[in-house]
Amino acid sequence: MVRFDTPDQRISALAADCLAIGLFDEEPLAGSSKTVDTATRGLLRKLKASGDLPSRLGECQMLVEPAGLKAKRLLVVGLGKRKDFAPRSWRRAVGAALGSCLKTRAAHLALAIDQPDTGALDDYYLGRAIADLTGTAMYRVNDFKSARKPRTTLQRVSVVGLATGARAAARRGLAQGEAIAAGQSLLRDLGNLPGNICTPRYLAQQAKELAKSHRNLKVRVFDEPQIRRLKMGCLLAVSRGSAEPPRFIAMEHRGGARGAAPIVLVGKGVTFDTGGISLKDPAAMDEMKYDMCGAGSVLACMLVASLLKLRINLVGLIAAVENMPGSRATKPGDIVTSRAGKTVEILNTDAEGRLILCDALDYARRYEPAAVIDMATLTGACVIALGHHFTGIMGNDDALARELVDAGERASDRGWQLPLTEDYAEQLRSNFADLANIGGRDGGAITAGAFLGRFTQGMKWAHLDIAGTAWNSGAQKGGTGRPVPLLADFLLQRAAANKA
Ligand code: BES
Ligand code: MN
Ligand code: ZN
Repeated sequence: MVRFDTPDQRISALAADCLAIGLFDEEPLAGSSKTVDTATRGLLRKLKASGDLPSRLGECQMLVEPAGLKAKRLLVVGLGKRKDFAPRSWRRAVGAALGSCLKTRAAHLALAIDQPDTGALDDYYLGRAIADLTGTAMYRVNDFKSARKPRTTLQRVSVVGLATGARAAARRGLAQGEAIAAGQSLLRDLGNLPGNICTPRYLAQQAKELAKSHRNLKVRVFDEPQIRRLKMGCLLAVSRGSAEPPRFIAMEHRGGARGAAPIVLVGKGVTFDTGGISLKDPAAMDEMKYDMCGAGSVLACMLVASLLKLRINLVGLIAAVENMPGSRATKPGDIVTSRAGKTVEILNTDAEGRLILCDALDYARRYEPAAVIDMATLTGACVIALGHHFTGIMGNDDALARELVDAGERASDRGWQLPLTEDYAEQLRSNFADLANIGGRDGGAITAGAFLGRFTQGMKWAHLDIAGTAWNSGAQKGGTGRPVPLLADFLLQRAAANKA
């Protein structure tokens, strides 16, 4: 664990193992780089003149034992051109500084990377961002390689160069950011675990352990016979083909007023998605171990709510199943009855997320929620539409969708609202049942949302399709911890509104 602080010391007098400053390209030195240059009798100016300092955004150079500074190392981070600089650039620079510092044996990092005045984060979000970026940089995959990786030595991160009046807000941001980072780390761990370990029963076990270690959390786990009694016919249709039994998990955090309507989070927990009888292509099928990241986000948000003692009532529901082919598996064309009573023709067993979610969403009604938000790695179509940058946001309440978009913007975990109008629901017509579980290729992210919309009438509901944002593919393969920052920001805002 890293400690954060905001010491009130001159940059040159700070005895850190590593002092990180930012340097804009092409202009006279200013801010902390000017302070450092003065203290070192022109070191930066001289290096700059020789062309030896980083100029591109995120480029780093480590200088050892700079005369005139108490710090053992000076890390100069390129900020690129001032005119191109945005809050996201600042995040990149800080991330690069953390990455560079973690390669050394430094235990104490002091961050003095300036932001330009225009577009600067406020002090609170500056703290949040630093805690969040530190958590990301420090995160180590729960790997199963037999050789042990060296441990990181970083123990303390100081934010320096803050005005006296800014420190309290920054410290609040750091503390809250730390809790959010813990949630992200939990989500990443769960996502990165392989399907043979992270099963529906494993998720249920994790929920129970979370409730055991956090007194303000309660949990109830439903096994297969109990799920049958809940009449979750769509959920059971998905898990039929698997030898792994399904679980339905309900968690509660009661931080708000007694009887106040809760926010209900619902997560897709497909611990492995082979596609079922509508079997997926083998290429990248391994990534379908991440198909429980919606469920992981629920667990993460329950943790964050508990750590921050959020003054809201929060319910977390998780539908956990494995989607497998098999002799008992659901077949294309099979018709099942959802918990809500609507019949569904399952034309493609690979469109399973909406099936487990529709039953979980219907279950949410019993809480008479202020809002229901589901999170799901629901469609490849959403990845086609938005790539890996934005989470797809849909729903039946524009104000709620707007709140989530704004939360994502503030938390640097962005979402984009897609139009969920009645037109899309028409694509779900079935000749044989109340609706089909697929609506054709066109607008696939939205027809999936429209399917869920048929089960959320009368509730304020939003749907986050995180298929493109919950994990990275390629060399950097791994969970991202998204959309926890977005959701945490939303919950913090709701909690603040309750107090007011
Ligand atoms: N879990 C997948 C969605 C997915 C695909 C997430 C790729 C991330 C990357 C989901 O269960 C699925 O298979 N969806 C189908 C729906 C289709 C059959 C209508 C899809 O997107 O192809
Ligand atoms: Mn699928
Ligand atoms: Zn899936």
